[in-house]
This record gives sequence, structure tokens and C-alpha cells, in this order.
Amino acid sequence: MKRRSFLYTAGLSGIGLSLGKTLTGCTNVKEKKLRETSTLNGNSFSIYTNAEVKATKVFHITDTHLFLDDERGEKYSEFSKRMAGAYRSNKHFKTGETIPSNKGFEEALKEAKKQNADFIVITGDLFSFPSEAAVEWVLDLLEETAIPFAFVAGNHDWHFEGMKGSSNFLRETWTQKLLKPMYQGNNPLYATYNINGIRFVCIDNSTYEILPEQLDFYRQQVSSNEPLVLLIHIPLYIPGHNLDFGCGHPEWGEKNDKNFEIERREKWRKGGHTETTFKFHDEVFNTPNLLAILTGHTHHLTLDIKNDIPQLVSGHNASGYYTQVSIYPF
Ligand SMILES: [Fe+2]
Repeated sequence: MKRRSFLYTAGLSGIGLSLGKTLTGCTNVKEKKLRETSTLNGNSFSIYTNAEVKATKVFHITDTHLFLDDERGEKYSEFSKRMAGAYRSNKHFKTGETIPSNKGFEEALKEAKKQNADFIVITGDLFSFPSEAAVEWVLDLLEETAIPFAFVAGNHDWHFEGMKGSSNFLRETWTQKLLKPMYQGNNPLYATYNINGIRFVCIDNSTYEILPEQLDFYRQQVSSNEPLVLLIHIPLYIPGHNLDFGCGHPEWGEKNDKNFEIERREKWRKGGHTETTFKFHDEVFNTPNLLAILTGHTHHLTLDIKNDIPQLVSGHNASGYYTQVSIYPF
């Protein structure tokens, strides 16, 4: 029998849906699958699953863009100055008041604590550039919450603008030098965190590309048949969006790279994505035990559903935004 699939694309601001309205995704009824329904209501995203899991509350934080630095970062100021000046004043998503990005992060953690969250997931661009002071500040705050957390990098977390080297080289260098404690002993490129019977799978796609070992790791997670939630920074390509949804986008590549001069980095790959990245994209949207994809990068809340799988881009935490993700047994 033909597998039912549909694509639902909702750029909430773009089509004028208010955040208070509800969007509901349907389920595949022809096969026993782990996905039942998912619902977005304001900044609450509820996922119902047929898997035997405990009700689980997750705080999803993305794109905080912290600019905190101290004398240890002075020698890198040539490479951090543009981003250090960004996100110092942001319009709060609820109150409209002007806040610096660090306040958005503090507020989100405070709320996670108040709500007794089971898990905090941070899907990248927590830092606007690698900063020892900012990493220490974040780890102290996370420790105070006593809530387990996962971090997957975004394209700014490891990027010093204008510093020589490929994206892969800079990611490896600054992950090892500064970001390492954020991974709590796990592999920065891929890791799994098991919370209440749900596997949260981190795959670092902050270079826009997927490496062969990341694809292998993802396949291992799929073969477990456990319910999965995928955490990535750059959303997977969905028709109707621009290159921000750049992981697996058929137009991504050198000829369409507009920001390499501003961001002072190497151009995107000539010839577009690797075969591995396209395979990953295809396999993710055909994963029977994947409950949802949680992501960031665009700074705008969107919900897309492809082949029955929801991909949620949360608004940027620089404005205080977070998404409360609740996973319930159906
Ligand atoms: Fe960002």
C-alpha cells in the first residue's frame, strides 16, 4: 500500500498565523508508527507518541548569540568584533522591552527550573563567537538548574570571522580549545542523550554538511527502534524556504553564497552538498521512529511537516524566546 505522506509548510509570520493559534499534524494510520500527532500552540509544542515513554518536558533554546567576553578574548578581538557588537539589544518576544541576549538565556533557564523541565536542549549559536568567559558563564547557570542538557553547535559557536582555515578545521579547533565542556564528555559531532525512554540525537551540521561517520551514527540510532528526537542547528531543506533551510538544499553551494565576505569565511562548497548530506536529508525524512526535528538558525519560528515528520525551528533566544516541548504517550 502506498505510504501516505504530505508536506505542510507554515512560516507563521509569513502567512499571518498568530502564535496563539494551533497547528496539528496528522499521523500515518496504515503502519504502526511511533508518531501520533504534534501540536504547536504559542511557544508550546506537544508531541504525542505511541511509544511507551514517560511524559517528558523539554526546554528548547536556540540562537542566544551571547557576546560576553573578557581579557582572555582580547587577542582574538580582530576576529570577534563584528559579532561581539550584535544581539546586545533585542526586542523581548513577549513584553517588547529591549533586552541583551544574556537576559534571554537567564530567563529561559529560570522558567525551565520553575516548570521542572526534564531536559534542556540547546541547538546552536548559543555563542556569537568562541569565548572562554561565555562558556564558563553558561556552564555555571546550567549547573545551577540541575537539569540535564544537550548542546549541538551552530555556525557561529566556533567561528572567528576572518581566521584562516576551513569550516571543518575551525570547528575542530575551537571545539577542542573552548567548547569541549559543553559536550560533557560526548563526541561533539554526534551524541545521544536518553531521557525517559526517548533518544535525543545530536548531529552537528553547523558546516551545513553531514560527515559519513555522522550518517553512520544516525543509522545506528534509527535501528534501535526507540523513539528519537533529532537536534540540529541548520534546518533540513524544505521546498518553499530560502537557503537558511540549507542542509540538503539543492541550491546550496558556492554560486549562491552571498554572505562569505561579511562573515569573512571560506565560500560554501563548489558543486553543492556532498552525497552524504543528501542521503542524510532523505533518510531523516523517512525515519519511522523519529518523533520530531528541533532546530534553529533562521531565528524565526516555523513548523514544517514532511512525510509526517515535524521540523520545528524555534525563535531566537536572544529575544527571550524558547519552546516548551512536551512529549506524551498517546
Ligand atoms: Fe543564529
